[in-house]
Amino acid sequence: MNATTSAFERIYGKTPEAAGFAPGRVNLIGEHTDYNGGHVFPCAIQMGIFCAAAPREDGKLRFFSENFACDGIVEYALGDLSPRGVWADYPASVIRAFSAFGSPIKRGADFCFRSDLPDGAGLSSSAALEVVTGTVLKELFSLPVTKQEIARIGQFAENRFIGVNCGIMDQFASAMGKSGCAILLDAGTLEYEYAPLGDAALVIVNSGVKHSLASSAYNDRRRECEAACRAIGVSALCALTPEEFEKKQNLISDPVCRRRAKHVVCENRRALDGAAALRRGDLAAFGVLMNASHVSLRDDYEVSCAELDFLAETAQQIGGVYGSRMTGGGFGGCTVSLMEYSAVERFASAVKAAYLDRFGIDPAIYPITAADGAAARAL
Ligand code: GLA
Repeated sequence: MNATTSAFERIYGKTPEAAGFAPGRVNLIGEHTDYNGGHVFPCAIQMGIFCAAAPREDGKLRFFSENFACDGIVEYALGDLSPRGVWADYPASVIRAFSAFGSPIKRGADFCFRSDLPDGAGLSSSAALEVVTGTVLKELFSLPVTKQEIARIGQFAENRFIGVNCGIMDQFASAMGKSGCAILLDAGTLEYEYAPLGDAALVIVNSGVKHSLASSAYNDRRRECEAACRAIGVSALCALTPEEFEKKQNLISDPVCRRRAKHVVCENRRALDGAAALRRGDLAAFGVLMNASHVSLRDDYEVSCAELDFLAETAQQIGGVYGSRMTGGGFGGCTVSLMEYSAVERFASAVKAAYLDRFGIDPAIYPITAADGAAARAL
């Protein structure tokens, strides 16, 4: 945090009045279920985005990021926060979105951000940027919004202004994370419960690839799910159990949409079964579900890629590893693996060597712990 407040002072020549942090997230199971009214099981991680800010009296909003320092200070007017295709559109859109939640922002402010999340790696750097902006604004202007509302404001900003039709999982995990726990969230109702992660290590491996069509492919998947809903006559795919789906699936004539729907319905069940397995301390059962989730994302939802398949399959063969899968939206990004603590070093060196040999990429490997959600304080 100190590095961010000093950067603020250096850039703006004054001291910040509030500062905060919002974490990235990793999803353990329940992928592409959130926008289908289903369950997800993410946790916040210790990497994330720091922000320092101070109000201004002239209605200007100015954003600086240590990670995009070459862009300098990006400035908007309170009355014109429309996106321009730059990183600062994310915090600007959050400020704009506060109005829709009954707390319009009436003053300008200066912001300085610093991220230690790998960018574009599928660990929710966008959600962390949205949530840290909302959390610091709440502190700066004493706004009557809850953490859950900040998550929804972030999602609203991204859907409405940025044009990515994401679900609520990433922002919710960043805002509501709890140390040592994953969050079993019903994305349809926003009911949630915390589940202690127990005695196992979580390791993220960054494939280092990001396929360029990721956000258009994401929106395509949403459309295919909506088509499947219409064909079956339900408002959300996760209203169906796998057994009900089995009986009704022939109503979906398009085989692609049918496979998409099958993934969603079964993945929702896996998320619930996974949380139950963790509750009874059955890490082996949780691992089996993670592996099945990967296969379903690869074959039925078709959001994996050769690099992620290789990382997950390599991990699954290492002794002491319970399970491994791609995590997040897909088309690149990261895998998450659950293993015995004693396996972490062996895992890291085996995966590094194999991936380097196969793809010529030295993958970043992060052992992680489940962390608390966003927080801010006055300075
Ligand atoms: C992205 C979205 C989330 C969720 C995942 C897939 O991370 O932002 O809302 O849909 O993909 O599970």
